[in-house]
Amino acid sequence: MASQSLLPAVAITIISFLYTTALPVTAVLVEHTFVVSQMNMTHLCKKTPVTVVNGQLPGPVIDVTEGDSVAVHVINKSPYNITIHWHGVKQWLNCWADGVPMITQPAIQPSHNFTYRFDVVGQEGTLWWHAHVPCLRATLHGALIIRPRNGVASYPFPKPHKEVPIIIGDWWEMDLGQVGRNMMHGLFDDFASASTINGKLGDLFNCSGTPEDGYVLDVEPGKTYLLRVINAGLFSEFYLKIAGHKFTVVAADANYVSPYTTDVIAIAPGETVDALVVADAPAGRYYMVALPNQAPLPDTQTPEHATRGMVRYGNSHLPGTGAPAPISPKMPDQHDIVTSLYFHGNMTSRHHRQQSPVPVEVNERLFIVLGLGAVCPQGRTCERGAFDSSNNLLVATMNNVSFQPPATMTPLLEAHYYHTGSINKTQELPDRPPVLFNFTDPALIPFGPKERRLEQSSRETVVRRFRHGSVVEMVFQSSAMLQGDSNPMHLHGHDMFVLAQGLGNYDAAKDVASYNLLNPPMKNTVLVPNLGWVAVRFVANNPGVWFMHCHYEFHLAMGMAAVFIVEDGPTVDTSLPPPPMGFPTRGNDHNLMPDGFYLQTKKSETSSINGI
Ligand code: C2O
Repeated sequence: MASQSLLPAVAITIISFLYTTALPVTAVLVEHTFVVSQMNMTHLCKKTPVTVVNGQLPGPVIDVTEGDSVAVHVINKSPYNITIHWHGVKQWLNCWADGVPMITQPAIQPSHNFTYRFDVVGQEGTLWWHAHVPCLRATLHGALIIRPRNGVASYPFPKPHKEVPIIIGDWWEMDLGQVGRNMMHGLFDDFASASTINGKLGDLFNCSGTPEDGYVLDVEPGKTYLLRVINAGLFSEFYLKIAGHKFTVVAADANYVSPYTTDVIAIAPGETVDALVVADAPAGRYYMVALPNQAPLPDTQTPEHATRGMVRYGNSHLPGTGAPAPISPKMPDQHDIVTSLYFHGNMTSRHHRQQSPVPVEVNERLFIVLGLGAVCPQGRTCERGAFDSSNNLLVATMNNVSFQPPATMTPLLEAHYYHTGSINKTQELPDRPPVLFNFTDPALIPFGPKERRLEQSSRETVVRRFRHGSVVEMVFQSSAMLQGDSNPMHLHGHDMFVLAQGLGNYDAAKDVASYNLLNPPMKNTVLVPNLGWVAVRFVANNPGVWFMHCHYEFHLAMGMAAVFIVEDGPTVDTSLPPPPMGFPTRGNDHNLMPDGFYLQTKKSETSSINGI
């Protein structure tokens, strides 16, 4: 059975009985050991040191059944400070395990260990895990698959013959630690050398004429396959197609959607898409292509690479069978942003026992403009264009504030829980932008005089507090400020109802009418279209300190992030429990470094960044 082959060998499963009723429901502890270390891998004729878990890229699959508990023992044998984040896992009353350095925990230092413990409750489908330090997630990531408690027979779609993770990623030949540092200094001249499917570069790349290995999915005619697609790339949204085949999308971000059929999947960093593929084409070989898309001119064009693998029927690859050449799909244009808009706009949630209705009454409204900006020395105007950090620092912002990690030794969650002073050194995220302008005016994309007035930004440890149970409506507006990118916005600890999206500037007067309050999809990562907007709602009912950020790594490193603090509710059941036993806090470990967020162990690095 497919689930067997996906189960990693390192998983130790211990069965215990949850309830002592007549029909006992079994809960399982899924336990993994993640040894993080550097190893050399050779691609494109070059031996490159990469930081990986258990010598694997992508890393091990965590395969659980809804309701299971997970324990992951991380042993850090790498030279980097790291944390692991369980992307999309709600971590109900368990913010301590969320894995964000200096937000929820001190980073795990080289030759230190840390154990993550969490339950996976009320979610089914595909999520993933990744390092939450700048850029290292390019090689520290893997799938996290949640199966229904009542078995695959309870999938709200035909039971697939086989299930396969399809992880789209990047191959970097550069030191990712250095890339992260450069991005935090507002420099982004570093690019991946290739894209990958399940860690393989594919035959569009070669070493001195020898093609790189590609991912191959062997299929049997007539059978159905469930692809669990994850975009683990740092920079790009991808279009995924398989020549001669269609996808039926059945879930996204571990939430079922009403099935819909498409020949292309659009997936941004952080998103997951579950799609069925029926092997109903004539026997043969069909390329599976992942093409990065990027903002059209006048945006800066950066090197981005398509990659391909293959879907292969039966004996179609054996020599002497006279098999025809593999067939290529016709891909969308690299600058096509409309196909992505339609793909995301087609999603509606599938009614399901775990789905709660969209709350109608809204308590808090935020209008968040996303873009780039500049932080300039006090009392001087920014000098645009030079990217000269002595004059200004290029930053990514929400409402003209760029996130700065806390400068104290105490992670924010600990400071919040124990009411220590450092939580007060934060700044509230403004509910609206400081100036209203034509956010999507393409004239703002190239550097010019128009931005001067608009780009002034500040760097703060920016937080937004919510009373427990608040219904929050957020409209994210992508802007043309110095770039016209889309923005995959990810919220930790909560799923968001995606009510509506559109191109251009959000206009409440007319756009509220387009809200889907009946069956909006629920997502942990919502793609805000290029020069467009998305409206979401979520219920702030999971007490803790949750990161909310763009999942483009350069946007995150440059500060397009904020921390959402959800207050405790009135009861024990609605309040954050104390840190788990052995959790390293300032109170019990005096060797902790303050600079986990910055990935390196050198303190000087932190102070020069914080000193802007
Ligand atoms: Cu997938 Cu805060 O990240």
